[in-house]
Amino acid sequence: MTKFYITTPIYYANDLPHIGSAYTTTIADVLSIWHRMKGDDTFFLTGLDENSVKVSQAAEKQGYSDIQKYSDSMAEKWIEAWKRLNFTNDGFIRTTSKSHKENVVKFFSKVYEKGDIYKGTYEGLYCEGCEEFKLEKDAPDGKCPIHQTPLKKIKEENYYFRLSKYRDAILKHIEENPEYIMPETRRNEVVNFLKQGLMDNSISRPDLKWGIEFPIDKKHRFWVWFDALINYLSPEKYWPAEVHLLGKDISRFHCILWTGMLMSAGYELPKKMYVHGFFTINGQKISKSLGNAIDPVRLSEKYGIDGIRYYMFRDISIGEDGDFSEVALKERINNEIVANYSNLFYRVSSFLQKNFEGKVPEAKYGKDEEELLETVEKLVKTYERQMENIELTAALNTAVELSTLANRYVQTKEPWKIIKTDRNSAAVSLNFASQLLRSIVLLYHPFMPNKGKEAAKALGIKLEWEDVSKPTLKAGHEIKPVMLFKKIE
Ligand code: MSP
Repeated sequence: MTKFYITTPIYYANDLPHIGSAYTTTIADVLSIWHRMKGDDTFFLTGLDENSVKVSQAAEKQGYSDIQKYSDSMAEKWIEAWKRLNFTNDGFIRTTSKSHKENVVKFFSKVYEKGDIYKGTYEGLYCEGCEEFKLEKDAPDGKCPIHQTPLKKIKEENYYFRLSKYRDAILKHIEENPEYIMPETRRNEVVNFLKQGLMDNSISRPDLKWGIEFPIDKKHRFWVWFDALINYLSPEKYWPAEVHLLGKDISRFHCILWTGMLMSAGYELPKKMYVHGFFTINGQKISKSLGNAIDPVRLSEKYGIDGIRYYMFRDISIGEDGDFSEVALKERINNEIVANYSNLFYRVSSFLQKNFEGKVPEAKYGKDEEELLETVEKLVKTYERQMENIELTAALNTAVELSTLANRYVQTKEPWKIIKTDRNSAAVSLNFASQLLRSIVLLYHPFMPNKGKEAAKALGIKLEWEDVSKPTLKAGHEIKPVMLFKKIE
């Protein structure tokens, strides 16, 4: 059995979920559902990053004296939101859990034994939003370019991880395995950065009151990124991950630091890091700290989960930034999902009900059907390749293409017109349209899994990938009419 282990970044627990965090999680969900359909042994991990300074600050601000209690209350909200969005994650990791803390200490001792930890002093500008030291050249006005907040001048004694020791090995790995970082533009950014040299990374902070204790010096706690990245190792039997998903803001932490950490501790490397773009509003990244967040649960109550998922990939090209627009979302639902998919489904299934007792009629295919079957097979192969490469926008476009072809087929054959004069031909096109519906439902399923289940039930099919392009529905197979989506006024 092929294994497929996919992760999202773990989200900072001081914020509530917004459409941006839901986006990364949706990518993981789409891929997980597809791999499960193919029968792969799939594990989808998401969770919360709780040991950040930001979390302790937010707790204080809200009057919590017990930071853990605050974090627990946030975790409840995240878990609830992900449930409401029907994500199919197999695990939800919290970095305040006992098992995670043990994993961090275990990982650290491997790096320590390797001789890759030393003590030093660092002076620099720190952004608590990013949990990262910034270089002066990247913040000429003293403000974080991402958060627009003033940077803190910090001089402190820290423990360092000898990341620079692994620069050549990291570079070599990336260059020999181009699929390690996708898309190519992101890979190039990382390679260029590495070519300029690489500094060691401070991995502890003194005098923090929140965070995982540093095993070799009780005055210190782990710098949150060193702790957070280790979450990915938690489903031990699934390591190495097939895919780490991440936004472009955190590509260096993953592509460089995490790779170096794994090399030092002697773990296998993940197969792929896929870096996606941002959801923006008027060109600005959506985030809680910038005050332009959109609640994905509220949005789903208005438009339905599947409509939003469809919009996310159809309207915004994965890998690039995209401006979120409710108008465009509504248009995609009404002009595409309803017009091109839902109406076709209803038309065919209800016509079958009316004229063939809801049963797929006996049929002998002609040239048109045989030719179209070949096209379906080609489209499915294209779709499979696109899903493998995480080209989700392209894969969804392929599914839409199939649906458009099916519409055209039915419009050309006009079974509702010829049923009175040529029942046989009407039977052929109805039989064939039903087979096409099955393929369409399967291709759409990772993107629209909630309606996908409804559609599969009405069609009486299993949501399995096998023979997806073949006309497997036998004569006499029962289909129930259903209207999957409604127009949004
Ligand atoms: N806690 C760190 C990640 C640690 S992983 C070991 C973190 N958390 S975060 O909550 O700030 O952001 C996590 C991820 O959310 C981003 O990398 C990105 O994948 C996603 N997004 C947050 N805002 C986003 C948009 N506006 N658009 C798309 N994705 C965004 O960084």
